[in-house]
Amino acid sequence: MKVTVGVSGGIAAYKSAELIRDLQKQALDVHVVMTQAAQHFIQPLTFAALTGHKVITGLWAPEGADPGDAASAIEHIEAAQTTDALVVAPATADILAKFAHGIADDFLTTMYLATTAPVIVAPAMNVNMWQHPATQANLETLAARNVRIVQPESGYLACGMIGAGRLAENEAIVEAVLSVLHHRNDLAGETVLITAGGTREALDPVRFLGNRSSGKMGYAMAEAAQRRGARVILVSAPTALRAPTNVEVVPVISTEDMRNAVLSRLDQATIVIKAAAVADYRPRMQAGQKLRRSGPLTLDLEPTEDILAAVVERRRQGLLVVGFAAETEDVLAHGRDKLLRKGADAIVLNDVSREGVGFDSDRNAVTFLTRDRAMELPELTKRELAGRILDEILALRQPSQVLAETDAGLRVSGD
Ligand code: CTP
Repeated sequence: MKVTVGVSGGIAAYKSAELIRDLQKQALDVHVVMTQAAQHFIQPLTFAALTGHKVITGLWAPEGADPGDAASAIEHIEAAQTTDALVVAPATADILAKFAHGIADDFLTTMYLATTAPVIVAPAMNVNMWQHPATQANLETLAARNVRIVQPESGYLACGMIGAGRLAENEAIVEAVLSVLHHRNDLAGETVLITAGGTREALDPVRFLGNRSSGKMGYAMAEAAQRRGARVILVSAPTALRAPTNVEVVPVISTEDMRNAVLSRLDQATIVIKAAAVADYRPRMQAGQKLRRSGPLTLDLEPTEDILAAVVERRRQGLLVVGFAAETEDVLAHGRDKLLRKGADAIVLNDVSREGVGFDSDRNAVTFLTRDRAMELPELTKRELAGRILDEILALRQPSQVLAETDAGLRVSGD
């Protein structure tokens, strides 16, 4: 497989040589594109010698070449189309900004726009540049567009300061490259129906009963599934999140809306992931006008329909159904009970009593629970975790899992 390493102009550019070697050890055919600034730090010749390929350093034909030669002018399109992944290491603040804003003023930035292959960036810069809101906003934009970010490490920086901004270890970058290559299109042919966000049950025209779900986990699942080649339908209760690209978003508000949206699309789905936090009760009556303050008020609530149970009731052969459960105590016992009661293939179990993970956080730590095992996944960003959960869901399709599910015993494994 062909991997293009983009080298931009930072002091860490010298580390790209070692990265290229490490990628080659994984039997990858590595090509290099350099920005002009990168050539102040390291010579193209180094990379040409390492890779055995011409290093691309500019958009235009070199001086003295035939100006009518169209080959170099379309080179970036060909390079963009034939690569299986583009990994930019080191990625400077400048290159991140250009990628985020679609500026295409050299070969690397043009190739970024022209490629449909997965893109990975490994930023490296001074700590203040890293922490600057402009850089962080650009990273957020890139992450929302499915660019994989290998976070820099903290430590002693070339500028003499100590802090975050040091290029990640090669091992982490290689791991990210292998992971995107391995997962490329492994969900092709699947239609994944995902619910996300927290449903709202109206009390009157201005108030509702809601919950603290941010929708981040469900959106991360939608992005990850789309990136891996699935068709994705995201039934979303209100969130403050931007819709992921190339995902069909169906906006809903109440549990009943969500139920109708899910059930009417169920026959298209091959995998259902119910990440939404769904209201269990709704007001029996909704006031037509705004409720006025007048002494104590008792709300009369009625149960909503359990959408997950309705999905399981209507499931066709081969449909995988995965629920989420946020618990505050006896987490494993409640999860196990829910898995059996609801008849889902798996429950992603979330201990929301833990600090710094779960609701509204960008991080999460979950247990993937099936009838025969409980797999504890490490604390990760929700984006990273989304990939791990999809791996576990896909593993359910494997014959050994189907056999294991007929075993009534519950084996707990934490590996
Ligand atoms: N769920 C659903 N419809 C509901 C309530 C929950 O589809 N009316 C789904 C959620 O999307 C989630 C799973 O069921 O995937 C578990 O949700 P949870 O609220 O934890 O389960 P409940 O059955 O409501 O149990 P309890 O609130 O008593 O813990």
